[in-house]
Amino acid sequence: ALPSKVRLVEVGPRDGLQNEAGQISTAVKIELVARLGAAGIRHIEAASFVSPKWVPQMADAREVMAGIERRDGVIYAALTPNLKGFEGALASGVDEVAVFTAASEAFTQKNINCSIAESLSRFTPVIEAAKANGIRVRGYVSTVLGCPYAGDIAPAQVAAVSRELLDMGCFEISLGDTIGTGTPVKAKRMLAAVAREVPIQQLAAHFHDTYGQALANLYAVLEEGLAVVDASVAGLGGCPYARGASGNVASEDVIYLLQGLGIETGVDLELLARTGNWISAELGRSNGSKVGQALACS
Ligand code: HMG
Ligand code: MG
Repeated sequence: ALPSKVRLVEVGPRDGLQNEAGQISTAVKIELVARLGAAGIRHIEAASFVSPKWVPQMADAREVMAGIERRDGVIYAALTPNLKGFEGALASGVDEVAVFTAASEAFTQKNINCSIAESLSRFTPVIEAAKANGIRVRGYVSTVLGCPYAGDIAPAQVAAVSRELLDMGCFEISLGDTIGTGTPVKAKRMLAAVAREVPIQQLAAHFHDTYGQALANLYAVLEEGLAVVDASVAGLGGCPYARGASGNVASEDVIYLLQGLGIETGVDLELLARTGNWISAELGRSNGSKVGQALACS
């Protein structure tokens, strides 16, 4: 059955911006986070504490995190691939961090330069340090519906990595269709396998829209009761280590879908759409949200 409430995790400031070629000012990044909070989003992935050699756009993560004017009830999160990243995030007052690995060995090598097993062992001290500081840790599993290097991925492999992250202490596992090749029945099958290992209440869908399937795939997993959705305003983004990957499903499109289904989100669609139009103009891009485009004309 469909959930009565869905939590939207806005990943635009991180996933959405990390792949932009032109340097985006710290002030614009901070303003984006502020506008998203004003639109009623309660969970914002604001930055990424990764190596600036690997992802130059996130080099100002510390300044972004520290510059955000905090709103009550909003969680400001950041990616932390290792202890060095965690220490930076902690120093800038992060509320929540996320570790990230994949269901594919080949992708893990390209993205974080180690094996899946090595990635998990790097996360152990991150999770311990986070616990000691009262910070929750989210776990990402990439390539859950296909890998740009290895092709098809077995649902059992996604389930195994998800289970390890849960057992290590992650409070939620976000399932990434990194390259957007999934389709609804495939998404349901993958979710069914993972949900045997991780309670569905602790799973999130993180679907990129490269092949235009993300909303359909989301609807498929919502029907199974999944209730946490990652999305990016204006459909910004892509992964620097997955060539051709386009952005996440657009947050505006997700909110419109959820409203139509009578599912509560607490988000002001009008303000969110304006934010999408604003950031698209700042980046000199066309708005990747259909709903954002429609509302801009209405
Ligand atoms: P490495 O080169 O193997 O690491 O990179 P290293 O430990 O040998 O360090 C190399 C250099 O980086 C050193 O500096 C370190 O100090 C520095 P040097 O001595 O050469 O001057 N360094 C750092 N600097 C800042 N912050 C850090 C950090 N760690 C090391 N945290 C590493 C390994 C994991 C660091 C690297 O591969 C990396 O940063 N990868 C990140 C890639 C990335 O950000 N990808 C995009 C995010 S994941 C994604 O988008 C998918 C997701 O959206 C879900 C989905 O869609 O599927 C989450
Ligand atoms: Mg992503």
